[in-house]
Amino acid sequence: MTSYDDLRKRLEEIVDPGFNQPFKTVAGIKKLVIGPTGVVELEVNLKDKQKNEQAVRLLIIKLVKIELGFPGIKIDFFESEFVPEGEKPIKYLAIASGKGGVGKSTVTANLAAALIRKGKKVGIIDADVYGASIPNILDLPIKPLNATEDEKMIPLSKEGIEVISTEFFMPPDKPLMWRGPMLGKMLIHFFSGVKWQDEVDIILIDLPPGTGDVALDVKTYVPKSKILVVTTPHPNASHVAVKAGIGAQNIGHEVIGVVENMSYYLNTCNQKREFLFGQGGGDVVAKKLGVPLLSQIPLGQPEKGGYIFKGQEIQGKAYDQLALDVIKELEL
Ligand SMILES: Nc1ncnc2c1ncn2[C@@H]1O[C@H](COP(=O)(O)OP(=O)(O)OP(=O)(O)O)[C@@H](O)[C@H]1O
Ligand SMILES: [Mg+2]
Repeated sequence: MTSYDDLRKRLEEIVDPGFNQPFKTVAGIKKLVIGPTGVVELEVNLKDKQKNEQAVRLLIIKLVKIELGFPGIKIDFFESEFVPEGEKPIKYLAIASGKGGVGKSTVTANLAAALIRKGKKVGIIDADVYGASIPNILDLPIKPLNATEDEKMIPLSKEGIEVISTEFFMPPDKPLMWRGPMLGKMLIHFFSGVKWQDEVDIILIDLPPGTGDVALDVKTYVPKSKILVVTTPHPNASHVAVKAGIGAQNIGHEVIGVVENMSYYLNTCNQKREFLFGQGGGDVVAKKLGVPLLSQIPLGQPEKGGYIFKGQEIQGKAYDQLALDVIKELEL
């Protein structure tokens, strides 16, 4: 019977196709146990798990059962978090709110623009597959996507912000009518099948409202993603935002802070703040989650039209400060 050490050595020689390096080099063997009946229990870290899992599973089964003669094997795969030396890990920040319409997508796009003003390289995953709105907010012209030789999608970009969105795959003005499993497949491609620009600093993930499937998919495919919670001052929104934040914390994400959007209207006649949606929602959410209230963004639209504020507008300044907080918190 092959010894534990020999089995481990043979497994570590298998090449992770995502890294093109043996498991030994990329910390691919997470857990290896030979049970009392000789059945092997194995946990494997794999790059681009979704794409490569089936082929690697077959290789391992062939080695362990056929070549080495073990009576059985149970394999669990996990997305690898290994970062090869000299390579910069991509940082992820998901924007969540629980309640719809509070401004997640607006905050995502404006935060991206502010991060670009601070010299960072930014991408956005529009993970709201049914209600994709990032291309519209950025006024991004849609054209057919190109792919790399290894079949990764090349995102479209506007003013330096790279974007991947279901909008790119749909005829205009047609709703997407898919059930959950199809949605999941699309998201997996967004999380592991995109060739972002070299040295990209951060990928923002614009989440759909709610705390459902997509939040869980983020945990599976981008386990290290941090979370930014958006709310409005209104108790209805803050109540649900607390749930979204606690949900994220419960599955192991770090919530970096809260943004209170539509906080107040600045009356330019008397420079007074008018609290049209009440006050205190952001504070409540921040306190309940034990995180800072990073920003309070006033109501208003960009002076020159569209949805992206310039750095000199009050909202633009608030987003610049938020970008600095994100840079510090994620060590970009
Ligand atoms: N600070 C603001 N002042 C005025 N209007 C705003 C502000 N923030 C967002 N809006 C507007 O509110 C609406 C909803 O914003 P947005 O689509 O960003 O919300 P969302 O949370 O992403 O919504 P959904 O849950 O549907 O994805 C949009 O019309 C947007 O332009
Ligand atoms: Mg949205």
